[in-house]
Amino acid sequence: MTMDVSSAAFAAYLVASLLFILSLAGLSRHETARTGVTYGVAGMVIALVATVALVIDVSADQGTGALPLVLLVVAVIIGASVGLWRARVVEMTEMPELIALLHSFVGLAAVLVGWNGYLEHPRFALDSLANIHDAEVVIGVFIGAVTFTGSIVANLKLSARIKSAPLVLPGKNIINLGALALFVVLTIGFVATPGISLLGAVTLVALALGWHLVASIGGGDMPVVVSMLNSYSGWAAAASGFMLDNNLLIVTGALVGSSGAYLSFIMCQAMNRSFLSVIAGGFGIKAGPSEAIDYGEHREITARDTADLLAGASSVVITPGYGMAVAQAQYPVAELTARLRARGIAVRFGIHPVAGRLPGHMNVLLAEAKVPYDIVFEMDEINDDLGGVDVVLVIGANDTVNPAALDEPGSPIAGMPVLEVWKARDVVVFKRSMAPGYAGVQNPLFFKDNTQMLFGDAKTRVEEIVRALTADETVGLSGVGRGRGQGQGR
Ligand code: TAP
Repeated sequence: MTMDVSSAAFAAYLVASLLFILSLAGLSRHETARTGVTYGVAGMVIALVATVALVIDVSADQGTGALPLVLLVVAVIIGASVGLWRARVVEMTEMPELIALLHSFVGLAAVLVGWNGYLEHPRFALDSLANIHDAEVVIGVFIGAVTFTGSIVANLKLSARIKSAPLVLPGKNIINLGALALFVVLTIGFVATPGISLLGAVTLVALALGWHLVASIGGGDMPVVVSMLNSYSGWAAAASGFMLDNNLLIVTGALVGSSGAYLSFIMCQAMNRSFLSVIAGGFGIKAGPSEAIDYGEHREITARDTADLLAGASSVVITPGYGMAVAQAQYPVAELTARLRARGIAVRFGIHPVAGRLPGHMNVLLAEAKVPYDIVFEMDEINDDLGGVDVVLVIGANDTVNPAALDEPGSPIAGMPVLEVWKARDVVVFKRSMAPGYAGVQNPLFFKDNTQMLFGDAKTRVEEIVRALTADETVGLSGVGRGRGQGQGR
């Protein structure tokens, strides 16, 4: 009995699809995440082996020689080398921009598959499925091209190569709606009489729309945009799967598309944003006031005085942000936490859902530094308690503790829930300058009466505080007596 390679590959794709589903299920919980990754790797290996076997089989059938296999191997070698290199050198803080770039590749691949589907399969008038094929081509090209340029803009914004502020063109909503209407008209035209110029027009409209949609979204909403582009890239892959008649691509694309859409929805809820407004390129969002508000003078504090302030406190909350990741300050922060707790001071962490640059970024860093998990709280769990806290240490966070989100309706981050750290007795903000955060807006927290700025690299400053506390312990000072009344905000 000769083995039918295409049936075997079909079965392998089914197994790989199931492994991807198990992988997603595993990744949804800390305890099972490692197993989830293993399922994903196994699924991908099976899918790759089946694809290579299929290429060899089809080449033998069609008598095309070794060329397809050589092309496949060369593409895999180039892709794998670049992928391995980037994965090794990328900093944790650069992950979102890398992910955005990877999404752009998926989008580009969908565009190329769509064009290939049109050029390689000329339409036969009597073919009853021809219309469906044409619709698949045009939809695949459209989603792919929107994903391609949208992801490039997201990459440029996340890597700070272009401004993160939203682009507000006059009539931007009309532009987006007009582009969608044009797409529908062009699709109908292409399905009726396919032609290279119509497909070219769809590609251009989609490239421009992708660019405009993401350019119109402000810095604070970029986390949602990245997960939304993740979703788009999944639908682009699924569209390619229909064109290539590849079940695995359809299933995987649908998994990525739907899980990305759900993640975007959850993030929008956490950030009090309208899901439809974000996916429609900031629909309904108006430009905020451009004049700078004068919040007054800020006050500074030294590491030594911060150590005294902490020594005199009975409850401390630490709210980390992107700056802690940049400074890699999580290890001295963990040490500081252990020292304060050893003195009987209650220490807790307050984590904002979009602190840092990745979902769960802060949790990963704190877990890496072995901060006990039971003192790490989500924003909603700790916000109501902040009024009774002695000292809040804001370590490299900015937008996520910005009161303008609640007090200034015209602010680009208006409406986003934030950690209400200013309710504490004293607040110490660790950062290097008065520069704004990711969303590009000034933070009135820095000018409040009970806030003091501790300038410098967060890691260096936290290490200095730990050294100061150690020195006090060594010379036998209680620390409590020294700390009370000194360096306090009010
Ligand atoms: P940000 O608003 O990004 O502010 C970080 C602050 O850290 C900056 O103001 C910076 O001030 C300071 N900083 C940088 N390097 C430092 C260092 N070595 N030592 C001390 N301070 C340092 O932080 P956030 O509060 O975490 O907010 C996150 C922002 O990123 C939000 O706007 C969010 O929407 C956006 N975002 C989040 C994600 C996800 S999923 N989490 C993805 C993309 C975008 P200096 O320069 O003055 O030091």
